[in-house]
Amino acid sequence: MSKNRVSWAEMLDVLTDSDREKTIVVERATETERMALFLLRRAGFSVQVASKTQKNYDLEAVRDNVSFAVQVSNQRAKVHLGQIEKFLDFLAHSDSGNFNEGLFISTSGFTKSVYTHLREEKYRHLRLAMLHDNQLDWEPEKNDAADDASKTIYIGVFTCKGGVGKTTISAHLAGAFALNGYDVALVDLDRQQNLRKLLGEGLYLPATKGKLGSVISVLSHDEWDETAYKGTKIVVCDCNPEFDANPIEFIRKFDYCLVPTTLNPLGVNKNADVIKRTFNQIRRENAKAHLFVLINSLQKDEESRNIILNEILEAQFEQFIERDKRCHYINPDKVAIRFSKQLLYWGFHIFDKSKPQLAFRTVGRYSYPRMDFLKLVDYLEMRTPINKAKTFSALVR
Ligand SMILES: Nc1ncnc2c1ncn2[C@@H]1O[C@H](COP(=O)(O)OP(=O)(O)O)[C@@H](O)[C@H]1O
Ligand SMILES: [Mg+2]
Repeated sequence: MSKNRVSWAEMLDVLTDSDREKTIVVERATETERMALFLLRRAGFSVQVASKTQKNYDLEAVRDNVSFAVQVSNQRAKVHLGQIEKFLDFLAHSDSGNFNEGLFISTSGFTKSVYTHLREEKYRHLRLAMLHDNQLDWEPEKNDAADDASKTIYIGVFTCKGGVGKTTISAHLAGAFALNGYDVALVDLDRQQNLRKLLGEGLYLPATKGKLGSVISVLSHDEWDETAYKGTKIVVCDCNPEFDANPIEFIRKFDYCLVPTTLNPLGVNKNADVIKRTFNQIRRENAKAHLFVLINSLQKDEESRNIILNEILEAQFEQFIERDKRCHYINPDKVAIRFSKQLLYWGFHIFDKSKPQLAFRTVGRYSYPRMDFLKLVDYLEMRTPINKAKTFSALVR
Protein backbone atom coordinates (compact mmCIF):
# COMPACT_ATOMS: atom_id res chain seq x y z
CA MET A 1 0.00 0.00 0.00
CA SER A 2 1.01 3.57 -0.50
CA LYS A 3 3.23 5.38 1.96
CA ASN A 4 1.03 8.48 2.12
CA ARG A 5 -1.95 6.64 3.58
CA VAL A 6 -4.06 8.89 5.81
CA SER A 7 -6.52 7.95 8.49
CA TRP A 8 -10.15 8.99 8.08
CA ALA A 9 -10.02 11.12 11.23
CA GLU A 10 -6.97 12.97 9.97
CA MET A 11 -8.60 13.42 6.57
CA LEU A 12 -11.84 14.75 7.96
CA ASP A 13 -9.98 17.44 9.85
CA VAL A 14 -8.21 18.62 6.74
CA LEU A 15 -11.17 18.48 4.46
CA THR A 16 -13.98 19.94 6.53
CA ASP A 17 -14.30 23.52 7.64
CA SER A 18 -17.26 23.10 9.91
CA ASP A 19 -19.02 20.46 11.98
CA ARG A 20 -22.04 20.76 9.71
CA GLU A 21 -19.96 20.02 6.65
CA LYS A 22 -18.27 17.16 8.43
CA THR A 23 -21.67 15.59 9.06
CA ILE A 24 -22.67 15.98 5.40
CA VAL A 25 -19.47 14.38 4.18
CA VAL A 26 -19.79 11.44 6.55
CA GLU A 27 -23.49 10.91 5.87
CA ARG A 28 -23.63 11.35 2.13
CA ALA A 29 -20.31 10.44 0.61
CA THR A 30 -18.99 6.96 -0.04
CA GLU A 31 -15.43 6.15 1.01
CA THR A 32 -14.16 6.65 -2.52
CA GLU A 33 -15.95 9.98 -2.81
CA ARG A 34 -14.41 11.12 0.48
CA MET A 35 -10.98 10.17 -0.78
CA ALA A 36 -11.61 12.03 -4.06
CA LEU A 37 -12.86 15.05 -2.13
CA PHE A 38 -9.80 15.04 0.07
CA LEU A 39 -7.38 14.71 -2.86
CA LEU A 40 -9.14 17.47 -4.82
CA ARG A 41 -8.95 19.81 -1.82
CA ARG A 42 -5.30 19.03 -1.46
CA ALA A 43 -4.91 19.95 -5.15
CA GLY A 44 -6.38 23.39 -4.44
CA PHE A 45 -10.04 22.86 -5.33
CA SER A 46 -12.84 23.89 -3.07
CA VAL A 47 -15.14 20.86 -3.00
CA GLN A 48 -18.61 19.97 -1.73
CA VAL A 49 -20.67 16.82 -1.70
CA ALA A 50 -23.63 17.02 -4.09
CA SER A 51 -27.15 17.11 -2.67
CA LYS A 52 -28.84 13.78 -1.96
CA THR A 53 -31.25 14.09 -4.87
CA GLN A 54 -28.54 14.83 -7.42
CA LYS A 55 -28.07 11.77 -9.64
CA ASN A 56 -25.80 13.21 -12.32
CA TYR A 57 -22.72 13.94 -10.23
CA ASP A 58 -21.29 13.25 -6.79
CA LEU A 59 -19.14 16.28 -5.98
CA GLU A 60 -18.93 19.94 -6.95
CA ALA A 61 -15.42 21.32 -7.28
CA VAL A 62 -14.23 24.85 -8.05
CA ARG A 63 -10.75 26.11 -8.83
CA ASP A 64 -9.66 29.36 -10.51
CA ASN A 65 -13.31 30.27 -11.21
CA VAL A 66 -13.86 27.06 -13.15
CA SER A 67 -16.55 24.82 -11.67
CA PHE A 68 -16.57 21.08 -12.23
CA ALA A 69 -19.35 18.52 -11.87
CA VAL A 70 -17.47 15.49 -10.57
CA GLN A 71 -18.59 11.90 -10.95
CA VAL A 72 -16.79 9.27 -8.91
CA SER A 73 -16.93 5.57 -9.85
CA ASN A 74 -15.47 2.76 -7.79
CA GLN A 75 -16.86 -0.15 -9.79
CA ARG A 76 -14.47 -3.01 -10.41
CA ALA A 77 -14.67 -2.87 -14.20
CA LYS A 78 -13.33 0.00 -16.23
CA VAL A 79 -15.72 2.87 -16.88
CA HIS A 80 -17.20 2.35 -20.35
CA LEU A 81 -18.34 4.76 -23.04
CA GLY A 82 -22.05 4.43 -22.25
CA GLN A 83 -21.40 5.92 -18.80
CA ILE A 84 -19.32 8.73 -20.26
CA GLU A 85 -22.03 9.43 -22.86
CA LYS A 86 -24.65 9.88 -20.09
CA PHE A 87 -22.35 12.28 -18.25
CA LEU A 88 -21.61 14.21 -21.47
CA ASP A 89 -25.35 14.44 -22.17
CA PHE A 90 -25.85 15.88 -18.71
CA LEU A 91 -23.02 18.38 -19.24
CA ALA A 92 -24.56 19.48 -22.55
CA HIS A 93 -27.98 19.85 -20.92
CA SER A 94 -29.19 23.15 -19.50
CA ASP A 95 -29.51 21.61 -15.99
CA SER A 96 -25.75 21.64 -15.83
CA GLY A 97 -25.61 25.40 -16.32
CA ASN A 98 -23.68 25.92 -13.09
CA PHE A 99 -20.72 24.00 -14.38
CA ASN A 100 -18.07 24.87 -16.91
CA GLU A 101 -16.55 21.41 -16.98
CA GLY A 102 -16.94 17.78 -16.00
CA LEU A 103 -14.52 15.52 -14.21
CA PHE A 104 -14.91 11.74 -14.16
CA ILE A 105 -12.86 9.94 -11.52
CA SER A 106 -12.54 6.16 -11.71
CA THR A 107 -10.72 3.70 -9.45
CA SER A 108 -10.43 1.11 -12.25
CA GLY A 109 -9.57 3.26 -15.26
CA PHE A 110 -11.47 3.68 -18.53
CA THR A 111 -11.97 1.51 -21.60
CA LYS A 112 -10.09 2.15 -24.83
CA SER A 113 -13.33 3.34 -26.42
CA VAL A 114 -13.59 6.13 -23.85
CA TYR A 115 -10.12 7.44 -24.66
CA THR A 116 -10.79 7.09 -28.40
CA HIS A 117 -14.07 8.97 -28.18
CA LEU A 118 -12.62 11.87 -26.21
CA ARG A 119 -9.62 12.08 -28.51
CA GLU A 120 -11.68 12.01 -31.69
CA GLU A 121 -14.17 14.58 -30.43
CA LYS A 122 -11.51 16.79 -28.88
CA TYR A 123 -13.65 17.46 -25.83
CA ARG A 124 -12.33 20.30 -23.80
CA HIS A 125 -14.99 20.28 -21.13
CA LEU A 126 -14.50 16.76 -19.81
CA ARG A 127 -11.46 15.55 -17.88
CA LEU A 128 -10.68 12.05 -16.70
CA ALA A 129 -8.68 11.03 -13.66
CA MET A 130 -7.83 7.73 -12.09
CA LEU A 131 -7.80 7.32 -8.34
CA HIS A 132 -5.37 4.72 -7.11
CA ASP A 133 -2.92 4.37 -4.25
CA ASN A 134 -4.49 7.45 -2.65
CA GLN A 135 -3.50 9.63 -5.57
CA LEU A 136 -5.24 11.25 -8.51
CA ASP A 137 -3.66 10.49 -11.86
CA TRP A 138 -4.66 13.24 -14.30
CA GLU A 139 -3.29 11.47 -17.34
CA PRO A 140 -4.86 8.07 -16.89
CA GLU A 141 -4.47 6.94 -20.50
CA LYS A 142 -0.71 7.18 -20.31
CA ASN A 143 -0.57 5.06 -17.20
CA ASP A 144 -3.48 2.72 -17.78
CA ALA A 145 -2.68 -0.97 -17.75
CA ALA A 146 -2.26 -2.29 -21.28
CA ASP A 147 -4.96 -4.81 -22.10
CA ASP A 148 -4.05 -5.89 -25.57
CA ALA A 149 -5.63 -9.10 -26.61
CA SER A 150 -3.26 -12.01 -26.26
CA LYS A 151 -5.27 -14.27 -28.54
CA THR A 152 -6.99 -13.46 -31.81
CA ILE A 153 -10.67 -12.63 -31.37
CA TYR A 154 -13.11 -13.81 -34.04
CA ILE A 155 -16.43 -12.06 -34.56
CA GLY A 156 -19.11 -13.20 -36.99
CA VAL A 157 -21.94 -10.98 -38.20
CA PHE A 158 -25.01 -12.90 -39.39
CA THR A 159 -28.44 -11.90 -40.61
CA CYS A 160 -31.71 -13.58 -41.00
CA LYS A 161 -32.49 -11.54 -44.07
CA GLY A 162 -30.68 -9.26 -46.49
CA GLY A 163 -30.45 -5.54 -46.03
CA VAL A 164 -30.59 -5.37 -42.21
CA GLY A 165 -27.05 -4.06 -41.97
CA LYS A 166 -24.67 -7.02 -41.88
CA THR A 167 -22.08 -5.44 -44.16
CA THR A 168 -22.53 -1.98 -42.63
CA ILE A 169 -22.04 -3.39 -39.13
CA SER A 170 -19.07 -5.59 -40.02
CA ALA A 171 -17.20 -2.68 -41.60
CA HIS A 172 -17.89 -0.16 -38.82
CA LEU A 173 -17.27 -2.59 -35.99
CA ALA A 174 -13.90 -3.24 -37.60
CA GLY A 175 -13.50 0.54 -37.80
CA ALA A 176 -14.18 1.02 -34.09
CA PHE A 177 -11.58 -1.62 -33.17
CA ALA A 178 -9.13 0.12 -35.51
CA LEU A 179 -9.78 3.49 -33.84
CA ASN A 180 -8.98 1.77 -30.55
CA GLY A 181 -5.58 0.86 -31.95
CA TYR A 182 -6.08 -2.69 -33.19
CA ASP A 183 -5.24 -3.92 -36.67
CA VAL A 184 -8.31 -5.72 -38.00
CA ALA A 185 -8.94 -8.34 -40.67
CA LEU A 186 -12.33 -7.91 -42.27
CA VAL A 187 -13.18 -11.23 -43.89
CA ASP A 188 -15.83 -11.25 -46.58
CA LEU A 189 -17.71 -14.55 -46.46
CA ASP A 190 -20.78 -13.22 -48.25
CA ARG A 191 -21.09 -14.23 -51.86
CA GLN A 192 -22.12 -10.67 -52.74
CA GLN A 193 -18.54 -9.62 -51.85
CA ASN A 194 -19.76 -6.16 -50.90
CA LEU A 195 -16.84 -5.40 -48.63
CA ARG A 196 -14.40 -5.97 -51.44
CA LYS A 197 -16.45 -3.74 -53.72
CA LEU A 198 -16.72 -1.02 -51.08
CA LEU A 199 -13.29 -1.06 -49.49
CA GLY A 200 -11.03 -2.79 -52.00
CA GLU A 201 -8.02 -4.22 -50.20
CA GLY A 202 -8.73 -2.25 -47.07
CA LEU A 203 -8.32 0.99 -45.19
CA TYR A 204 -5.63 2.68 -43.20
CA LEU A 205 -6.75 4.72 -40.23
CA PRO A 206 -4.07 7.33 -39.64
CA ALA A 207 -2.48 7.95 -36.30
CA THR A 208 -3.72 10.58 -33.89
CA LYS A 209 -1.18 12.21 -31.61
CA GLY A 210 1.05 9.73 -29.87
CA LYS A 211 -0.71 6.75 -31.41
CA LEU A 212 0.13 4.33 -34.16
CA GLY A 213 -2.27 4.16 -37.08
CA SER A 214 -4.24 0.97 -37.67
CA VAL A 215 -4.99 -1.13 -40.71
CA ILE A 216 -8.22 -2.81 -41.76
CA SER A 217 -7.38 -5.50 -44.30
CA VAL A 218 -10.25 -6.80 -46.38
CA LEU A 219 -9.70 -10.47 -47.15
CA SER A 220 -11.48 -13.47 -48.57
CA HIS A 221 -11.70 -16.55 -46.34
CA ASP A 222 -8.72 -18.27 -47.97
CA GLU A 223 -6.51 -15.19 -47.66
CA TRP A 224 -6.84 -15.00 -43.86
CA ASP A 225 -3.88 -16.65 -42.18
CA GLU A 226 -3.21 -16.15 -38.48
CA THR A 227 0.54 -16.60 -38.79
CA ALA A 228 0.91 -14.30 -41.79
CA TYR A 229 -1.08 -11.53 -40.06
CA LYS A 230 0.66 -11.82 -36.71
CA GLY A 231 -0.16 -8.37 -35.38
CA THR A 232 -3.81 -8.64 -36.35
CA LYS A 233 -5.76 -9.72 -33.29
CA ILE A 234 -9.29 -8.93 -34.38
CA VAL A 235 -11.10 -10.74 -37.19
CA VAL A 236 -14.56 -9.55 -38.21
CA CYS A 237 -16.49 -11.71 -40.69
CA ASP A 238 -19.37 -10.57 -42.86
CA CYS A 239 -21.02 -14.00 -43.01
CA ASN A 240 -22.97 -15.70 -45.73
CA PRO A 241 -26.74 -15.60 -45.09
CA GLU A 242 -26.89 -19.23 -46.12
CA PHE A 243 -25.45 -20.81 -43.01
CA ASP A 244 -23.85 -23.85 -44.61
CA ALA A 245 -21.99 -21.71 -47.13
CA ASN A 246 -19.76 -20.31 -44.35
CA PRO A 247 -16.46 -22.15 -43.94
CA ILE A 248 -16.86 -24.34 -40.88
CA GLU A 249 -13.40 -23.42 -39.53
CA PHE A 250 -14.59 -19.85 -39.08
CA ILE A 251 -17.85 -20.85 -37.41
CA ARG A 252 -15.89 -22.91 -34.90
CA LYS A 253 -13.49 -20.10 -34.13
CA PHE A 254 -16.04 -17.38 -33.40
CA ASP A 255 -15.81 -15.84 -29.93
CA TYR A 256 -18.77 -13.56 -30.63
CA CYS A 257 -21.59 -13.62 -33.14
CA LEU A 258 -23.83 -10.66 -33.79
CA VAL A 259 -27.22 -10.86 -35.43
CA PRO A 260 -28.57 -7.42 -36.28
CA THR A 261 -32.28 -6.84 -36.52
CA THR A 262 -34.60 -3.84 -36.57
CA LEU A 263 -37.48 -2.66 -34.41
CA ASN A 264 -40.57 -2.44 -36.60
CA PRO A 265 -44.11 -3.78 -36.18
CA LEU A 266 -44.03 -6.20 -39.11
CA GLY A 267 -40.60 -7.64 -38.38
CA VAL A 268 -40.76 -7.85 -34.63
CA ASN A 269 -42.80 -11.06 -34.58
CA LYS A 270 -41.20 -12.98 -37.39
CA ASN A 271 -37.53 -12.07 -37.06
CA ALA A 272 -37.05 -13.64 -33.64
CA ASP A 273 -37.68 -17.16 -34.96
CA VAL A 274 -35.13 -16.79 -37.70
CA ILE A 275 -32.56 -15.36 -35.28
CA LYS A 276 -33.13 -18.26 -32.88
CA ARG A 277 -32.69 -20.70 -35.73
CA THR A 278 -29.38 -19.02 -36.62
CA PHE A 279 -28.29 -19.16 -32.96
CA ASN A 280 -29.06 -22.91 -32.90
CA GLN A 281 -27.09 -23.51 -36.09
CA ILE A 282 -24.04 -21.70 -34.68
CA ARG A 283 -24.37 -23.51 -31.35
CA ARG A 284 -24.28 -26.93 -33.02
CA GLU A 285 -20.75 -26.16 -34.23
CA ASN A 286 -19.52 -23.81 -31.51
CA ALA A 287 -20.29 -24.18 -27.81
CA LYS A 288 -18.28 -21.25 -26.51
CA ALA A 289 -19.29 -18.27 -28.66
CA HIS A 290 -21.31 -15.48 -27.12
CA LEU A 291 -24.30 -14.76 -29.35
CA PHE A 292 -25.90 -11.34 -29.45
CA VAL A 293 -29.06 -9.82 -30.87
CA LEU A 294 -28.26 -6.24 -31.84
CA ILE A 295 -30.80 -3.60 -32.83
CA ASN A 296 -29.83 -1.68 -35.96
CA SER A 297 -31.33 1.45 -37.53
CA LEU A 298 -32.82 2.56 -34.21
CA GLN A 299 -34.75 5.83 -34.50
CA LYS A 300 -33.50 7.73 -31.50
CA ASP A 301 -36.43 10.16 -31.29
CA GLU A 302 -39.08 7.43 -31.08
CA GLU A 303 -38.66 6.34 -27.49
CA SER A 304 -42.19 5.29 -26.58
CA ARG A 305 -42.83 3.18 -29.67
CA ASN A 306 -39.36 1.64 -29.41
CA ILE A 307 -39.98 0.62 -25.80
CA ILE A 308 -43.11 -1.30 -26.81
CA LEU A 309 -41.54 -2.94 -29.87
CA ASN A 310 -38.43 -3.82 -27.89
CA GLU A 311 -40.46 -5.48 -25.13
CA ILE A 312 -42.22 -7.66 -27.71
CA LEU A 313 -38.98 -8.67 -29.38
CA GLU A 314 -37.02 -9.21 -26.18
CA ALA A 315 -39.78 -11.38 -24.68
CA GLN A 316 -39.31 -13.85 -27.52
CA PHE A 317 -35.73 -14.49 -26.43
CA GLU A 318 -36.42 -14.83 -22.71
CA GLN A 319 -36.60 -18.65 -22.52
CA PHE A 320 -33.83 -19.07 -25.02
CA ILE A 321 -31.47 -16.91 -22.95
CA GLU A 322 -32.58 -18.66 -19.77
CA ARG A 323 -31.37 -21.97 -21.25
CA ASP A 324 -28.18 -20.67 -22.84
CA LYS A 325 -26.27 -18.15 -20.73
CA ARG A 326 -24.04 -17.23 -23.65
CA CYS A 327 -26.94 -15.81 -25.62
CA HIS A 328 -27.59 -12.14 -25.06
CA TYR A 329 -30.23 -9.71 -26.13
CA ILE A 330 -28.54 -6.32 -26.20
CA ASN A 331 -31.01 -3.88 -24.76
CA PRO A 332 -31.03 -0.83 -27.06
CA ASP A 333 -30.87 1.26 -23.88
CA LYS A 334 -27.30 0.04 -23.51
CA VAL A 335 -26.15 -0.29 -27.11
CA ALA A 336 -27.88 -0.06 -30.46
CA ILE A 337 -26.82 1.21 -33.84
CA ARG A 338 -28.89 4.30 -34.41
CA PHE A 339 -30.36 5.19 -37.78
CA SER A 340 -28.17 7.79 -39.40
CA LYS A 341 -27.89 9.47 -42.74
CA GLN A 342 -24.18 8.76 -42.78
CA LEU A 343 -24.78 5.02 -42.56
CA LEU A 344 -27.70 5.20 -45.02
CA TYR A 345 -25.44 6.67 -47.70
CA TRP A 346 -22.27 4.87 -46.70
CA GLY A 347 -20.75 3.35 -49.81
CA PHE A 348 -21.82 6.19 -52.09
CA HIS A 349 -18.15 6.63 -52.97
CA ILE A 350 -18.60 3.77 -55.47
CA PHE A 351 -20.77 6.11 -57.52
CA ASP A 352 -18.96 9.42 -57.13
CA LYS A 353 -15.54 7.71 -57.33
CA SER A 354 -14.29 9.28 -54.10
CA LYS A 355 -12.00 7.49 -51.65
CA PRO A 356 -13.54 4.85 -49.40
CA GLN A 357 -13.99 5.91 -45.80
CA LEU A 358 -16.08 4.92 -42.83
CA ALA A 359 -19.15 6.86 -41.67
CA PHE A 360 -17.33 8.29 -38.66
CA ARG A 361 -17.43 11.99 -39.57
CA THR A 362 -18.56 14.27 -36.73
CA VAL A 363 -21.92 15.86 -37.49
CA GLY A 364 -23.37 18.19 -34.88
CA ARG A 365 -22.33 17.20 -31.38
CA TYR A 366 -20.63 13.96 -32.29
CA SER A 367 -20.64 11.12 -34.75
CA TYR A 368 -23.44 8.77 -33.70
CA PRO A 369 -22.12 5.84 -35.72
CA ARG A 370 -18.68 6.22 -34.18
CA MET A 371 -20.14 6.51 -30.68
CA ASP A 372 -22.43 3.50 -31.21
CA PHE A 373 -19.73 1.20 -32.58
CA LEU A 374 -17.24 2.22 -29.87
CA LYS A 375 -19.94 1.39 -27.32
CA LEU A 376 -20.48 -1.96 -29.04
CA VAL A 377 -16.76 -2.72 -28.71
CA ASP A 378 -16.99 -1.91 -24.99
CA TYR A 379 -20.05 -4.13 -24.65
CA LEU A 380 -18.30 -7.08 -26.28
CA GLU A 381 -15.12 -6.57 -24.30
CA MET A 382 -17.06 -6.54 -21.05
CA ARG A 383 -18.22 -10.03 -21.89
CA THR A 384 -14.84 -11.40 -22.81
CA PRO A 385 -12.85 -13.62 -20.52
CA ILE A 386 -9.77 -12.48 -22.43
CA ASN A 387 -7.96 -9.40 -21.06
CA LYS A 388 -10.02 -9.34 -17.89
CA ALA A 389 -7.72 -11.30 -15.61
CA LYS A 390 -4.73 -9.27 -16.70
CA THR A 391 -6.51 -5.93 -16.34
CA PHE A 392 -7.98 -6.74 -12.95
CA SER A 393 -4.79 -8.02 -11.42
CA ALA A 394 -3.00 -4.89 -12.57
CA LEU A 395 -5.62 -2.51 -11.24
CA VAL A 396 -7.20 -4.12 -8.20
CA ARG A 397 -4.66 -4.41 -5.50
N1 LIG B 1 -27.93 2.23 -38.89
C1 LIG B 1 -28.28 2.53 -40.15
N2 LIG B 1 -28.77 3.76 -40.46
C2 LIG B 1 -29.15 4.06 -41.71
N3 LIG B 1 -29.09 3.22 -42.75
C3 LIG B 1 -28.61 1.97 -42.53
C4 LIG B 1 -28.17 1.56 -41.23
N4 LIG B 1 -27.74 0.29 -41.34
C5 LIG B 1 -27.89 -0.08 -42.62
N5 LIG B 1 -28.43 0.92 -43.35
C6 LIG B 1 -28.78 0.94 -44.78
O1 LIG B 1 -29.16 -0.36 -45.17
C7 LIG B 1 -28.47 -0.74 -46.33
C8 LIG B 1 -28.26 -2.23 -46.35
O2 LIG B 1 -27.36 -2.61 -45.33
P1 LIG B 1 -26.26 -3.74 -45.54
O3 LIG B 1 -25.23 -3.53 -44.52
O4 LIG B 1 -25.84 -3.82 -46.95
O5 LIG B 1 -27.13 -5.03 -45.15
P2 LIG B 1 -26.75 -6.57 -45.43
O6 LIG B 1 -25.31 -6.69 -45.53
O7 LIG B 1 -27.34 -7.25 -44.22
O8 LIG B 1 -27.48 -6.94 -46.69
C9 LIG B 1 -27.19 0.07 -46.28
O9 LIG B 1 -26.68 0.29 -47.58
C10 LIG B 1 -27.63 1.35 -45.66
O10 LIG B 1 -28.13 2.22 -46.64
MG1 LIG C 1 -24.11 -7.44 -47.10
